Amino acid sequence: MSVHRPLQQLAKRATTSQCLNFQQKAHHKPRIWQPQDRQMATVIPPVTQDSTSSKGPTAMVFMNMGGPATTDEVGDFLSRLFADGDLIPLGALQNYLGPLISRRRTPKIKKQYADIGGGSPIRKWSEYQASEMCKILDKTNPETAPHKPYVAFRYANPLTEEMYTQLLEDGFGKGKGGRAVAFTQYPQYSCSTTGSSLNELWKWRQRMESPTRNPNLSAAEAEGSILWSVIDRWPTHPGLVDAFAENITKQLESYPEDVRDSVVLLFSAHSLPMSVVNRGDPYPAEVAATVWAVQQRLGFKNPYRLVWQSQVGPSAWLGAQTSDTVNNFVKAGQKDLVLIPIAFTSDHIETLYEIDQEVIHEANELGADGRVRRAESLNGSPTFINALANIAGTHLNNGEICSRQMGLRCPGCVNERCLAQKKFFMGQGQQANTATTL
Ligand code: FES
Repeated sequence: MSVHRPLQQLAKRATTSQCLNFQQKAHHKPRIWQPQDRQMATVIPPVTQDSTSSKGPTAMVFMNMGGPATTDEVGDFLSRLFADGDLIPLGALQNYLGPLISRRRTPKIKKQYADIGGGSPIRKWSEYQASEMCKILDKTNPETAPHKPYVAFRYANPLTEEMYTQLLEDGFGKGKGGRAVAFTQYPQYSCSTTGSSLNELWKWRQRMESPTRNPNLSAAEAEGSILWSVIDRWPTHPGLVDAFAENITKQLESYPEDVRDSVVLLFSAHSLPMSVVNRGDPYPAEVAATVWAVQQRLGFKNPYRLVWQSQVGPSAWLGAQTSDTVNNFVKAGQKDLVLIPIAFTSDHIETLYEIDQEVIHEANELGADGRVRRAESLNGSPTFINALANIAGTHLNNGEICSRQMGLRCPGCVNERCLAQKKFFMGQGQQANTATTL
């Protein structure tokens, strides 16, 4: 797909067989818009608000789990989180156990948010990162400018439906077409995180832009729906690796030179239930790929381990657990440890409370003496924001729909929404509006 191809040519319909064939033959090349994707091509004018080019504006939608901005939002946040079977699979009892667990946990989690300043900073950082990235893209990718930043959270405001409503109000879709990029802010793909956000985005797209779900839509509005593409994973992007390596190096420099190379690096990622791991979820392998790439960048100067945090409930989760590992190291006399949040792109409760106030506090109680520390999260790192712009700019230039890997379902997946979502984002649903499974 050439960058010079007009936006209208992205409005293509891929056949079901193309999607199914694709699922059977996964390759590592990204899924690119192809001329044969288009049947019955429809000329759709680009959205025109603030438009300074033939193809823009382009909506850049940052997807993430989100967090409550105030302690009053904790209850709603948890109730959405425990209702999500993609994230916390509770089987047939989801609708009963989800509300029960979220109600029981709310007071404790409210206190944790109070202890980190009264709310999660994830919205502030997401909006900052998206907006700074768009400023860079306006310069590096003038063909698709202006780039407009949006944030869609899975469990907190702004929710996916709020973001979608805003897109329509801003002049995307509803007969005007326009291009939007769903850019996951989870560098490593999991069906619990990025998959869940895409399932939610697909659901709301169907409700708002599919005539089979929304009889109020005119034919022209349905034809001119938003054209979506997806950046679904970027675990080893060199800019991401550089940003992590910079923050680790900075923290290592806080140790005396004679012990610096013997500090153990503990890369910590959010754990997954073993039922999800055994289903074939790609996340553990992609997190390990990030860790390896960062270690390679650092020259393997320090010993390291990948450990897993934040497990909930009594079922089996992927280990070793971060807190146990730190305690065991400290008890064994290895007190110089740097914790690196390797699967989050900004601070939230898992870094500011769980690592800083629980894990490190406990280590100090065991005698770590302030020698267990944490690398700063990526937050406002210019290296990281440049990496985001590079990932997005390359995606726009190449006309990618999504990665090749996205079409492949987990070997143990029985969720029909995954199939419908993947078919849609890989091209079938772009203008066909035929996907009806909800
Ligand atoms: Fe992974 Fe459905 S659970 S594709």
